[in-house]
Amino acid sequence: MAQINPSILSADFARLAEEAQAVAGADWLHVDVMDNHFVPNLTLGLPVVESLRKATDTPLDCHLMIEQPDRWAPAYAEAGAGSVTFHVEAAAAPVRLAREIRAQGARAAMALRPATPIEPYEDLLPELDMLLIMTVEPGFGGQAFLDIMLPKIRRARRMMDRHGLEMWLQVDGGVSASTIERCAEAGADVFVAGSAVYNADDPAGAVAALREQAER
Ligand code: DX5
Ligand code: ZN
Repeated sequence: MAQINPSILSADFARLAEEAQAVAGADWLHVDVMDNHFVPNLTLGLPVVESLRKATDTPLDCHLMIEQPDRWAPAYAEAGAGSVTFHVEAAAAPVRLAREIRAQGARAAMALRPATPIEPYEDLLPELDMLLIMTVEPGFGGQAFLDIMLPKIRRARRMMDRHGLEMWLQVDGGVSASTIERCAEAGADVFVAGSAVYNADDPAGAVAALREQAER
């Protein structure tokens, strides 16, 4: 089953509760946390996640694009995120961190920037509930999908199959009606979409259409 996670990075930050409700049919709400250090952009943090948690029944998928995730990621789980993703490039001790996130009752996920290979992390996969392969350089919504990431998605799915892992494979960046089928065919099953959902006239309809396309 394909899951569609609208990214509120493309929503109106002054109306987050309504924007969350506008995509009530989504599987998860993707929350991009940026610290202006790991990426050249600044978005939101723990207090906003705590408030969002109360404003919607849709589970929160927090994507931390921050330095020192070892210090901060477990707090996002404690604040009510159902899934917490840290970037391996910023993590000092990814295995310990994944275990701490799980201990807080959230799903643990690890993200790779486009230039970060998966092969060195093969043995870590059993510690994770989801792997995120970035299909743009993290930092901004509305960027063009990087086709050159498709072989990496394929390799990741093969690696998971080889180890008999049921974990999820998420793609984030440039996912739209024109790219989602290629991602699904390569083996992704969780799709983040920011501009493709929130720039649409009917965000809920866009979610449904993307899901249908991904399952084709
Ligand atoms: C980018 C963020 C994405 C962003 C995707 O760094 O991680 O989640 O919102 O936006 P689109 O779907 O517009 O590429
Ligand atoms: Zn994201």
